[in-house]
Amino acid sequence: VTFSSFKSHIDLAHRYWQHIVQPGDIVVDATCGNGQDTLFLDGLQPSRLYALDIQEDALVNTRTLLGDSKSVTYHLGCHSQFPEEIQSKSVKLIVYNLGYLPGGDKTLTTLSETTLLSVKRALDLVKPGGAISVTCYPGHPAGAVEENAILAWAEGLDRHTWSCCHHRWCNRAKAPSLLLIQSCKS
Ligand SMILES: C[S@@+](CC[C@H](N)C(=O)[O-])C[C@H]1O[C@@H](n2cnc3c(N)ncnc32)[C@H](O)[C@@H]1O
Repeated sequence: VTFSSFKSHIDLAHRYWQHIVQPGDIVVDATCGNGQDTLFLDGLQPSRLYALDIQEDALVNTRTLLGDSKSVTYHLGCHSQFPEEIQSKSVKLIVYNLGYLPGGDKTLTTLSETTLLSVKRALDLVKPGGAISVTCYPGHPAGAVEENAILAWAEGLDRHTWSCCHHRWCNRAKAPSLLLIQSCKS
C-alpha cells in the first residue's frame, strides 16, 4: 500500500474507511450528496451500500455517478430514520459528510438536532469492530454549532465500548474535521 500524504480530511477519511471495510460488509452513506463518498465506498466492495439523502437531486446525482452498481440501495429521507431493513449490529461503517449539497440549495443543510438523533441511532446499527465516521464543517457558524454538539455527545460515550477520536488540522483555521467512533468489541 502506498501511503500518500494527508492533504485533506478526505485522504484521512478514505484511509480509515479502507482499513475498516472488508468486501461483503454492509455500509451506510448517511449523506450521499453528489455521490463522491458513495463511489469510494462502493469501490470497497460492500455486499450492500445504503445511500441516504433528504434531497431527490442528491440521489439522482449519486445514481448517475454510480452507474449500474448493483450493491447500492437508495433511500430518500432524513437520516434520523434509517431504512427499516437495516438490522441492529449489522453495519460495518456509517459515514456522514455534514453540511449542504455542493452546488445545491445551501438552506437544505444537516442540522444538529437530526444529526445527533441519527448518530445516536447509528450506534445500535454498528456491528462489533464497526465504526461511524463524521466529517464536520466548523468553518461556518451553523457547522461549528453542529460540530460542538456532536463532540459534546461523543465525549460522553463509554470508553470501554467506543473509541472516539477527533482529527482536526491545527494549522488550518476553519478546515473540516473528522470524528471517528469505533466499536471496541471485535
Ligand atoms: C456535504 S453534502 C454530502 C456530500 C457527499 N457525501 C458527497 O460525497 O458528494 C451533505 C448532504 O447531506 C444531505 N442532508 C442534509 N440533511 C440531511 C438529513 N437530515 N438526512 C439525510 N441527508 C441530509 C444534504 O442534502 C446534502 O446532500
